[in-house]
Amino acid sequence: MSENQNIVWHQASVSKQEREKETGNKSLVLWFTGLSGSGKSTVANVVSRKLFEAGKNTYVLDGDNVRHGLNKDLGFSDEDRTENIRRIGEVAKLFVDAGHIVSTAFISPFQADRDQVRGLLEEGEFMEVFVKASLAVCEERDPKGLYKKARSGEIPEFTGITSPYEEPAAPELVVDTENNSIEEAADLVIQELEKRNLIR
Ligand code: PPS
Repeated sequence: MSENQNIVWHQASVSKQEREKETGNKSLVLWFTGLSGSGKSTVANVVSRKLFEAGKNTYVLDGDNVRHGLNKDLGFSDEDRTENIRRIGEVAKLFVDAGHIVSTAFISPFQADRDQVRGLLEEGEFMEVFVKASLAVCEERDPKGLYKKARSGEIPEFTGITSPYEEPAAPELVVDTENNSIEEAADLVIQELEKRNLIR
């Protein structure tokens, strides 16, 4: 895709820095990645609730939801997953610009795609959170019955079964949902934000 030479970036009248000062939170992306059933959405939503209750601007972008609207034209081929993550990255960047702590809950199986999103943002604005649970445990949980369908061949290109998942090489944080409750996992994320002086 070529960039249109006739489009000029318009400077916003309210800056990101002004918004951050107002809310007392650094705006950033909490990028939750992990297998289907690892707990990404659940942990992201608990984190978001905690931040909201502490008066922060927060929003969750979730795989299933975004695929009902913005990305409903995309499937699960490698190319479509890459495009899915590219678009989400751009949307997340807009939320960061609007002064939010935006949590994204997408499998985002490819390291290169996650790195590409990191590259869209400024230093410190992207925290990769690996929601860790083994394939065996995710398959055992199978909250939507999708692993069963993937095993029977009803769903092709299913992550972990017939489509790859690349574990994060150097995530800012790993939350293990096999050995921690959802509440504990969410607290670990909040603690990490505090440790990095990203919320006050
Ligand atoms: S990706 O890989 O980042 O583009 O996927 P994502 O947008 O997060 O969408 C994952 C959710 O879609 C459902 N689903 C599938 N997942 C993986 N592979 C295949 N083939 C597939 N088909 C449907 C599934 O409910 C995923 O939700 P989560 O919350 O991860 O379980």
